[in-house]
Amino acid sequence: MKGDIGVIGLAVMGQNLILNMNDHGYKVVAHNRTAEKVDEFLQGPAKGTNIVGAYSLQELVDKLESPRKIMLMVRAGDVVDSFIDKLVPLLDKGDIIIDGGNTNFPDTNRRVAALKEKGIHFIGSGVSGGEEGARFGPSIMPGGSPEAWPFVKPIFQAISAKTENDEPCCDWVGNDGAGHFVKMVHNGIEYGDMQLITEAYQFMKDGLGMTHDEMQSVFIEWNKTELNSYLVEITSDILGYKDTDGETLVEKILDTAGQKGTGKWTGINALDMGIPLTLITESVFARCLSSLKDQRVEAEELFGKKESIVEGDKQVWIEALRQALLASKIISYAQGFMLMREASNENGWDLNYGNVALMWRGGCIIRSAFLSNIRDAYDIDPELSFLGSDSYFKGILENSMSAWRKVAAKSMEVGIPMPSMTSALTFLDGYTTARLPANLLQAQRDYFGAHTYERVDKPKGEFFHTNWTGKGGDVSSTTYNS
Ligand code: 6PG
Repeated sequence: MKGDIGVIGLAVMGQNLILNMNDHGYKVVAHNRTAEKVDEFLQGPAKGTNIVGAYSLQELVDKLESPRKIMLMVRAGDVVDSFIDKLVPLLDKGDIIIDGGNTNFPDTNRRVAALKEKGIHFIGSGVSGGEEGARFGPSIMPGGSPEAWPFVKPIFQAISAKTENDEPCCDWVGNDGAGHFVKMVHNGIEYGDMQLITEAYQFMKDGLGMTHDEMQSVFIEWNKTELNSYLVEITSDILGYKDTDGETLVEKILDTAGQKGTGKWTGINALDMGIPLTLITESVFARCLSSLKDQRVEAEELFGKKESIVEGDKQVWIEALRQALLASKIISYAQGFMLMREASNENGWDLNYGNVALMWRGGCIIRSAFLSNIRDAYDIDPELSFLGSDSYFKGILENSMSAWRKVAAKSMEVGIPMPSMTSALTFLDGYTTARLPANLLQAQRDYFGAHTYERVDKPKGEFFHTNWTGKGGDVSSTTYNS
């Protein structure tokens, strides 16, 4: 009997996905560039299963049922192209290559188009959930050649995480790089969620002077509220984790955040598409700022930074902080969905936002109860332009407003940096302001560069120039918007 699917790349994610597929009754052919890895896997975790090995790409191809489905679980970038180049001459028309790495979506767009010319189908799929997700149920976000989906769907939906209603956290996202785009936004939101949690932690630790046990209890309680999520849950575990000497481990970890680039890509795409994705972008910058450790140490000394003590009833502050975190989270997701909406329109992907929320409901790093409410919001209005306008989320934003402002104002007053929570509030203030000061900005542009402006008392699309000083000419520059 030939194999149902081949997987290339036996690092931990690849191995775990294979074992997961095997558990669901699929016969998997495993290949790795170094042959010893194949042996180690077959004699180790894959021992006693139906998994078979392949020591060359030819052997892999020969061992697969047609149309062949070959999933690459290798490092994103050139390695993917190099495997594609080697595989294509060995494949038949109608065969399917799947890239399950964290690929930047323009690469997937390019690969789908290039392989289409050769009659090979290509799927670029986000896979989220880390090692455990891969082993027992990840969130899977596939996009690319739609013709390939019916062949891959049963396997992916079998191995994916399931919601509480047993729905698979995997569905077809859209053409071209849509799957990898959605995974990128998932990661951007992941950056935002993590940053918001760290801001709450710093407010509690530095501002309220709370112990780790106290903070752990707060996160345990928060996890029973609308904030229920994997990231809040692991935060409570982390805060309670003691090093071998009995001290809290988290305080021994150097405060410089790493990043592999998906958050940055999300920010870059937001700038390219003109979407005010402020919270995620602030979260990326917060990681950048954290990495300037030496400069920060010097600057603290130079500026003689004082302790940032927050006075008042601790319990009242903790509840205010919870509301501020929840409201900011709504803004983050609202912005992320705005970005996906713009990308869907620009690329003709026809994204189904309720389905995206469903795919993120389980298995992935941002999995949370909250995503069920997002799905409900898009069920009610599939074209919702701002998540915060949905009645459920609007109610939370309105009810949290006062607490959110207090937390933001206090953080500014005492000097606790909360770039994501405060920028989220500023975004909402801007978004809910019918008239912003951009009229003055337009006047400035026209003053110094004759960039023209539109008038409130004339139809849109009619452009005017004023000779503000009486000295310049009446010639305006051509109007275009980037
Ligand atoms: C996931 C994660 C994963 C990502 C890590 C690290 O969905 O399972 O998003 O894909 O690689 O979270 O990302 P950073 O190194 O950029 O923090």
